Amino acid sequence: MAIRAEFSISMSSLRRLAVALLACSPLACAPLLANAQGYSPRPQERVSVAPVPTPIAEPASTPLTNLPGRQRRSLNGKWQALVDGYADGIGDWKAVWKDRTAAGKTQFFEYGFDDSVTLDVPGDFNTQRPELTWLEGSVWYRKAFEYDAAHHDGRRLFVHFGAANYRTDVFLNGEKLGSHEGGFTPFQFELTGRLKDGENRLLVHVNNERRKDGIPAQGFDWFNYGGLTRDVDLVETPATYIQDYSLQLAPDSLRRVDGWVQLAGTAPRQPVRVRIPELGVDVRAQAGADGRAPLRFEAPFALWSPAKPKLYRVEVSTPQESLQEDIGFRNIAVRGDALLLNGEPLFLRGVNFHEEIDGRRAHSEADAQRMLEQAKQLGANFLRLAHYPHSEHLVRLADRMGLLLWQEIPVYQGIDFAAAGMQDKLEAMLAEMIDRDRNRAAVIVWGVANETSPGPARNSALAALAQQARRLDPTRLVSAAFYGPGFDGGTLTVADPLVASLDVVGINEYFGWYIPWPVEPEQAVWKPFGKPLLITEFGAEARYGHHGADDVASAWNEEFQAGFYRKQLRMLARIPFLRGTAPWVMMDFRSPVRMHPFQSGYNRKGLLSERGERKLAWQVIHDYYSEVGR
Ligand code: GCU
Repeated sequence: MAIRAEFSISMSSLRRLAVALLACSPLACAPLLANAQGYSPRPQERVSVAPVPTPIAEPASTPLTNLPGRQRRSLNGKWQALVDGYADGIGDWKAVWKDRTAAGKTQFFEYGFDDSVTLDVPGDFNTQRPELTWLEGSVWYRKAFEYDAAHHDGRRLFVHFGAANYRTDVFLNGEKLGSHEGGFTPFQFELTGRLKDGENRLLVHVNNERRKDGIPAQGFDWFNYGGLTRDVDLVETPATYIQDYSLQLAPDSLRRVDGWVQLAGTAPRQPVRVRIPELGVDVRAQAGADGRAPLRFEAPFALWSPAKPKLYRVEVSTPQESLQEDIGFRNIAVRGDALLLNGEPLFLRGVNFHEEIDGRRAHSEADAQRMLEQAKQLGANFLRLAHYPHSEHLVRLADRMGLLLWQEIPVYQGIDFAAAGMQDKLEAMLAEMIDRDRNRAAVIVWGVANETSPGPARNSALAALAQQARRLDPTRLVSAAFYGPGFDGGTLTVADPLVASLDVVGINEYFGWYIPWPVEPEQAVWKPFGKPLLITEFGAEARYGHHGADDVASAWNEEFQAGFYRKQLRMLARIPFLRGTAPWVMMDFRSPVRMHPFQSGYNRKGLLSERGERKLAWQVIHDYYSEVGR
């Protein structure tokens, strides 16, 4: 008796399925098939394959910095891709990562890259194919590359990911290299000793499902773009290589660098050399058994500033390797409630940015150029990069354009601080952000949180993060953005234990939008907390081109939004310890939580529409920035 199919499906559904299958690409079929079948396929006779060799020691390694200065080969471009509709390809049964090809007449595998569609890397997958628009799940990427073993003897090869959202598993030639969690910071795996001569295949599984124990957690006000969202590179190094270095002015000096060079490899005790030819700097130091070479030198730097973003060509070398990059030298400090850049009072004329342009995740230098130009045209000297580290292209461009940056990790509303392993994940993500950008003069603030509610687990987690930030990088300020101020009937202030751990206090304040004004702006009195205050968010929504009354919030008029800012500025101008403002937000951005027909999936607090059109409010801020802090 023929084995009855293990599922029953009506003829009409079969017809629908047949029609649908003919109309869809392999990439899109998986979810369709999964939905229509709703069954576990008849278990194939187990294909006898050699057990996956036990992977040698976890090849995850601390990401190399200064990629532009290294010997590398870009893997950007078209990658073959499959949707893993129920994310079961990672398991041992389907084992997509083995990337097997059927042999003989009876063998088959229910996945296959050879005939699959392709996705562009870098780039989120959601905006590359209509059937992926709303995908929160797993996509498999495959990239083959040639390798000539003879040519590389003694040297090491890494695969470096600029970022991938959110969880990533990486395989080489059917062998797992490792996994990474976090959607906005770099990670890498070593390939040395695992490569074949000739063609090698990288398989990368990226899953962007929001997680209760994630960073961010499951609820956030931006589009959850998934995939290989930033550059992927093969990077070659000597057996012992320059992993990282810190070359920034000491916190208490305008001339002295207290830095270090970090080597990694089997022979760490090596001489290192740092040269800045333009200044006649030529410093030598010796790395110890831990590969660390502390160094200290002074020079008459032309200090980096927004007005004069001077960068010096710096060369870091060992007997085997020499890296170069352009670095700016400046000093950012707090004195009481004053903010000082190179010893001079600083006012941050800021604006918030999400990393989005043309309705997709921004990732390239060209994207960064367009975004930073928008900030310059507004008259800004400061960007808060919300709510996660943005691409290295943007940070390096800000160095060149003279724009100050606040970078933060996505410790956003709803983080489960008490979840097992959470502190390790928080600290790993913070370290990945700081390690990447520690030599970028533009970055002046590390943000450790946005709008988290006080509580024992959160207070201790964030106080520890603030301390870790200082330990990793004593040359920058540590801050966090808080929910709006409390009002005790007389004054406005922030009563949060986390303030004590910070250098600068950021407040997201929405009087006149989310909450009514507690007092008229002229009567608002802010209680000092002895530290600089930044209004890190303030804003209201308007649909570009929509005009009418300026006192009806639900009308989504540009006049209302402009009036919101005029009223806000009447209060902000009176806060004696206010050292910066950042309207929320430069440009309307995609957010699935914004469902009103006038929002149509966008948060419309932009001073610009998502197409870059200026709303009336843009002029209000432009005029304010043409005077304040000048
Ligand atoms: C919050 C939050 C932003 C959000 C904004 C808004 O302050 O930090 O991520 O987009 O408010 O509600 O528009």
